[in-house]
Amino acid sequence: MSKQANVAIDGFAGSGKTTVAIELARQLGLVYLDTGLMYRAVALQCLRDGTDTSNDPAIGALVESFDLKMDVVARPHPTCRMILAGQDVTDELHDPCVSQLVARVASVPAVRRELVARQQAFAQRGGVVMVGRDIASVVLPEAEVKIFLAADLGERARRRSLELQQKGKSVTQTEVEAELEARDRQDSERADSPLICVEQARKLDTTGLTVAQVVDEIAGWVRCGSV
Ligand code: C5P
Repeated sequence: MSKQANVAIDGFAGSGKTTVAIELARQLGLVYLDTGLMYRAVALQCLRDGTDTSNDPAIGALVESFDLKMDVVARPHPTCRMILAGQDVTDELHDPCVSQLVARVASVPAVRRELVARQQAFAQRGGVVMVGRDIASVVLPEAEVKIFLAADLGERARRRSLELQQKGKSVTQTEVEAELEARDRQDSERADSPLICVEQARKLDTTGLTVAQVVDEIAGWVRCGSV
């Protein structure tokens, strides 16, 4: 049997990557891995341990024995749960305290090395839609399809605050906008694997588009195996 294509989706915070990736994986029967959740799990562990988050070696030491299982399946529908030391912590990973810390933790090279190795092992057999910031540039530079999603900051903040409010979290759009902007800046300016749109990626601005429109477009590219 020939290896199925891997699809790399990168983009700014709140650009719709996760929603699009889940629907794409569902339609094409692919497995979906949200790598942002893995970095968020490291941030949560730091908060739980009271790790000094200005101390790179302390954060790096934490991932050396990081007990994270990715419970990721394609059927009956794509899901991606993070099991930290035996406990499903997925629902805690979008708490504001985690969101505020995650870009700092993700800038530590030892953290990136460890998580990238796990992500590459995960995608070895193909058939994965992987979502993140450095998927096309670092994790899966050989991915058959590479996508970069963007959208206006205002629209991204509106979508994200709606999602959070639906989960019962009380946040304003202004707070979310400030958090997304700060995180985009940190992710784009860090020295190790900054967020970039690689030359071969198809760039799609999702402002004003429905999820169905974005998924249709990308599914078309995947079906013709286009990079
Ligand atoms: O995708 P999400 O917004 O959940 O990602 C949370 C954070 O994790 C990002 O802002 C970024 O700092 C980090 N991240 C990363 N590389 C990835 C995925 C996420 O640095 N591949």
